[in-house]
Order: sequence, then C-alpha cells, then structure tokens
Amino acid sequence: MKRFLNKIDLSQHIDALKSKGNSIGFVPTMGALHEGHVSLVTKGLNENDFVVVSIFVNPTQFDNPEDLVKYPRSVAADIALLSNVSDAHILVYTPSVEDIYGDQAVSQSFNFDGLEHEMEGAFRKGHFDGVGTIVKRLFEIVKPDRAYFGEKDFQQLQIINKLVELHHMPVEVIGCVIHRSEDGLAMSSRNARLTPEHRTIAPFIYKTINTAKVRFGTESAQIVTEWVNEQFKKESLLELEYFIIADETTLKPVKEKSTEKTYRAFIAVYAGDIRLIDNIALN
Ligand code: PAF
Repeated sequence: MKRFLNKIDLSQHIDALKSKGNSIGFVPTMGALHEGHVSLVTKGLNENDFVVVSIFVNPTQFDNPEDLVKYPRSVAADIALLSNVSDAHILVYTPSVEDIYGDQAVSQSFNFDGLEHEMEGAFRKGHFDGVGTIVKRLFEIVKPDRAYFGEKDFQQLQIINKLVELHHMPVEVIGCVIHRSEDGLAMSSRNARLTPEHRTIAPFIYKTINTAKVRFGTESAQIVTEWVNEQFKKESLLELEYFIIADETTLKPVKEKSTEKTYRAFIAVYAGDIRLIDNIALN
C-alpha cells in the first residue's frame, strides 16, 4: 500500500491517476481506525477506483489541549488494518503538522450560516473553524470526486456540506450511517480510552436516545428532553453535557414540532474524562 508523508508527492500521484481517468474517493480520519472507518473505506472502494485515507490528528480542532495530547494514535496498526482492506487501491496520507500548516498551526475563521454555533460549536469553542480549515485543505490536496463522513458527527457532516457549497468545491460529500458495537455504542476512536467500567455503562447513551425517539412520537421535545436529563441524573458514571432535539437541516433546537420537518436528537456525555457523542434520526 502506498504511503505519502507530504502533500506534494500525494498530489502529483493523484494527478497522474486522474489523468488516466481514475476516480478518487477520500476518507479523512484522525487515525485509531475502527470498523466504522473500515466501512467508509469499503464504500469508497466500491464507488471509486482509488481511496485516499488521511491520518492526521488535527491540532486546530481541539479546544482542550489535554484531549489533543491524549487522543489515541496508532499509525502502524492503522496501516496494517487498511492494507488488509486493499493493498493496491488505498493510498494513505500521514502528514506532519508542518506539511499541513507550515510553521503556524492556526485555523481560518468560517461562517457556516450559523450551523457552527449550535451544540458542538457552543461547547467546543473554535472546533468547527479547525474542522473547516483541515477539511478544506485536505480537499484541495486530494481533489476527491467523493468524500465519506460518518453520521456520528452529524453536525460536522452538515458543516462540511455547507463548506463545499459556500466554496464551490467539486466534491460529492457522502454521509454514512453510524456504525455501532453489538451493544449499541457508536464506534469512536475515543472508545479505546474508556475504562472497563465506563465501557460497560456507555451503551446507556444509545439505549436512552433510542427510547427518546419512541417518546418523541407522542411527547413534546421539552418533555422528552426533561426525561433524558432525569435518566442521566440516575447514572452516576456518566455526565450529560447536552441532549438537544434539533431540526436536521438548520440544527436549531425544536420549539414547536412540525410534521413537515425532520428532527434528530443529539447528545454529548462524559464517561470520566472521555467525551462521547451520538445522535439519532427521530422521524
Ligand atoms: O471526524 C474526524 O475524524 C475529523 O474531524 C476529520 C474530519 C478527520 C477532520 O480532522
């Protein structure tokens, strides 16, 4: 499997592939790859001639320096996993911070029509400027035909759709369903850092939002939200940061339910110092 450490070599290789009529899929990651990533790469391989997987822990999207230091890193294992998926059709890009940012790792400031101020944006200051900066840069380097993102980060997915729209980027953004462990926990690189105790209780998050979905069929967003808050008060190992029922397109919290709108419930929970997020479509 071809591995690239710098953008110039990668870009030249991709230009050569494209000049021969090959299509390029792209799966940007921060590494610590799991089955969820593999499913994105597999979809990419089915729909394109080659798939570029970037592995880069992007410093500008971390609001908490300790979280950046502790973020799991396992490049050798990631590469071994990817070469089992396809040795010939995957290109791995593992840049340094300098390759991406030069000598100043700072993010650009974006206006995503307000999507950036809701939920993750409210709780993680500057997060989506960091995400927008890295994804825009990676799109410029990789020039993919299609790019694949998991719906676990649904707000991120909507923001990337907006980035592509506002900057007229010639890439099709494809959202992929959340990959879950058998017990329902959404797959995340951060799960690797859960203690056994927290890992055992973590499926409570999915169980609760699943029940919230059922309740939303007959109850108001406010009543469902209160119910979720009560459930987490009874669960001392998990700390609820937010549970919000929002319009799927604007990401604004729902005030009055309307049958014409599509809603999704979003949740962020601390299990010890590990922050987990999840979401579920409600209608
Ligand atoms: O979802 C992620 O892993 C990251 O936010 C991404 C899209 C790779 C940008 O660093």
